[in-house]
Amino acid sequence: TEAELYTLHKGVYMPSYLHTPKSLEYYEEFTFRPDDIIIVTYPKSGTTWMQEIVPLIMSGGDPASVETLPNWERVPWLEETHACNFNLEQRPSPRMFTTHFQYNMMPPSFFEVKPKVIYVMRNPKDVFTSSFHYYGTASFLVNPGPQIKFLHKFLDGKVMFGSWFDHVKSWLNAEDKECILHISYEEMIMDLKDSLARIAQFLQKSLDAEVTEKIADRCLFKNMKQNKMSNYSAVPREFMDQTKSEFLRKGIAGDWKNQLTVAEAEYFESVYKNKMKDVKYKFVWD
Ligand code: PPS
Repeated sequence: TEAELYTLHKGVYMPSYLHTPKSLEYYEEFTFRPDDIIIVTYPKSGTTWMQEIVPLIMSGGDPASVETLPNWERVPWLEETHACNFNLEQRPSPRMFTTHFQYNMMPPSFFEVKPKVIYVMRNPKDVFTSSFHYYGTASFLVNPGPQIKFLHKFLDGKVMFGSWFDHVKSWLNAEDKECILHISYEEMIMDLKDSLARIAQFLQKSLDAEVTEKIADRCLFKNMKQNKMSNYSAVPREFMDQTKSEFLRKGIAGDWKNQLTVAEAEYFESVYKNKMKDVKYKFVWD
């Protein structure tokens, strides 16, 4: 159950196995640098994809880090138990990190230093779909149970890292917009090279056509699926059982159409319309 597996941190559920009081305190006291790059996502929105893209852009296409370092060490989550073991203070700039935190959960140093943020969003119906499969594979997450039950939990934010709506709204309403690039999974699916160009520009890196081509190819779903440093094959089956559903599962936009019943999709849409009514941002999926 939630009470057994999750910790309530700043009002949201976090899997206790991955986020200990020690690691959360480490994050709370973490000191950022202005040139740090932070990938921020609600879970299942394109984190792993961005953990491939950003290091490749920063290295000018050199694949060494994506071939030798697992994604969680390459662009570590600041809230996870391992963070304090990676000697992040000693890493040379520009450092790359990941977090699933909502804006208001970020530690004090973040608001003082204002490092660069790449915020990746995904159609919540697809986030739900991806989560539904993923929650069934991970022993540190509460089993999703019947789909309709999980749908209610998801829409109520009774899942890891809280409500998708709160998360996205918090980062869309964030201050210091010039330090944040908002990009969506769907834009990356539609035109990966254009997305790479936008990300590179934000990171003040120039990419020529040849390097862009090379990075785009490496980051294709089918190629990332083969990368042992990015497909979570190094995680023991007792924690993540990919025989039930692969981590890199389908990698498409719109799979919710195969997952939700008509009634579920209508209900989802009504909750979405209500919760997002004050949001001005134009999402590609709307
Ligand atoms: S996590 O657990 O939060 O780190 O998960 P996250 O990486 O954010 O999301 C996993 C989903 O992203 C898909 N994915 C990709 N899609 C397209 N192209 C590439 N290269 C890619 N890499 C990861 C992954 O397949 C999960 O989505 P679903 O819909 O389940 O396939």
